[in-house]
Amino acid sequence: MGDTNMQSVVIEQPGLLTIQQRPLPQPTANEVRVKIKFAGICGSDVHIYHGHNPFAKYPRVIGHEFFGVIDAVGSDVDPKRIGERVSVDPVVNCGHCYPCSVGRPNVCTQLQVIGVHRDGGFSHYACAPARNAHHIPDSISDRHAAMVEPFTIAANITAHLQPTAQDIALIYGAGPMGLTVVQALKGVYGVKQVIVVDRIPERLAMAQENGADRVFNNTHLDLATELHNQGLHPTLIVDAACHPAILPEAIALASPAARIGIMGFSSDPCVLSQQAITSKEIAIHSSRLNSNRFPQVISWMTEHKIHPEKLITHQFNYTQVLEAMEIFEKDQRQCCKVLLEF
Ligand code: NAI
Ligand code: MN
Ligand code: ZN
Repeated sequence: MGDTNMQSVVIEQPGLLTIQQRPLPQPTANEVRVKIKFAGICGSDVHIYHGHNPFAKYPRVIGHEFFGVIDAVGSDVDPKRIGERVSVDPVVNCGHCYPCSVGRPNVCTQLQVIGVHRDGGFSHYACAPARNAHHIPDSISDRHAAMVEPFTIAANITAHLQPTAQDIALIYGAGPMGLTVVQALKGVYGVKQVIVVDRIPERLAMAQENGADRVFNNTHLDLATELHNQGLHPTLIVDAACHPAILPEAIALASPAARIGIMGFSSDPCVLSQQAITSKEIAIHSSRLNSNRFPQVISWMTEHKIHPEKLITHQFNYTQVLEAMEIFEKDQRQCCKVLLEF
């Protein structure tokens, strides 16, 4: 690799992933350029690879969970930032539409997600607006810094749900997203009872290692009946499995006055009744990406309230990206978060 070229993981078109030599990107006036050290693989990267992400345009450098060091800045950015360790918030917003004006940049009408709408972090270098590059203190390791973004998903949904210690929480799905939520509920909010349901025994074991108090395998189990028999009436429910059948079930087994958080993107309908919701005055919150939650998650890490290492099961050099993506996609029993090193 010379001084003017770099290598990037590119989805040229759905189904075609290549590692390409590309010219080094130059930061515009308000941007920084980050020399990337670690980037995490997410389900959405796999979806872009397979052509299942409705927002993606091709060719695209994927990757929206990344950490590195600023190595160049645009003309309007303080050159003292060169050398700074940063994690990059992938949410790029316009700053003046209605959602931006009420502090919801994650649903900006002009939303651009780095790694989806514009080139991302599976690359030796990436440019991002300077304000998206968040300072990482020395006490947070490079690998953990690449985990800030996935925890911002948990920070965002829990900000909507306002967990309290006396909640009985039920989490559907023990994938990376469900597990970040479990860690936040236990480590940040001190929720006394966190129940996790999934269909994969190994993932339920991981949920326990990440702090879940009870786990249920719902492959052959009627969860509503089981919880009812055990006298468990969840007051806070998060759907981190995101099948359309889950929300009606969650409404049915929720306690009166419960809050439910959803984060799925399925376009399939699900059938709900007003009576089931209103009779218990249930609040349903949706959560997308994160609204300025990087500083919050960085504090959670420095205060050891969350434990990113529990989620990192694999690490590969970026040249093995195809193998890494395959393991991430196919080996749900052993695999949670996979990091690529650049
Ligand atoms: P994942 O696929 O690794 O985990 C989902 C888990 O749910 C799996 O372990 C699976 O066995 C389990 N599951 C599936 N159906 C179930 C059911 N009916 N009952 C119980 N468990 C069930 O996915 P990951 O990465 O953890 O993400 C979860 C979801 O969150 C995905 O649908 C993804 O699109 C969504 N997501 C949403 C974001 C947002 O900002 N709104 C951000 C990131 C992910
Ligand atoms: Mn992600
Ligand atoms: Zn906006």
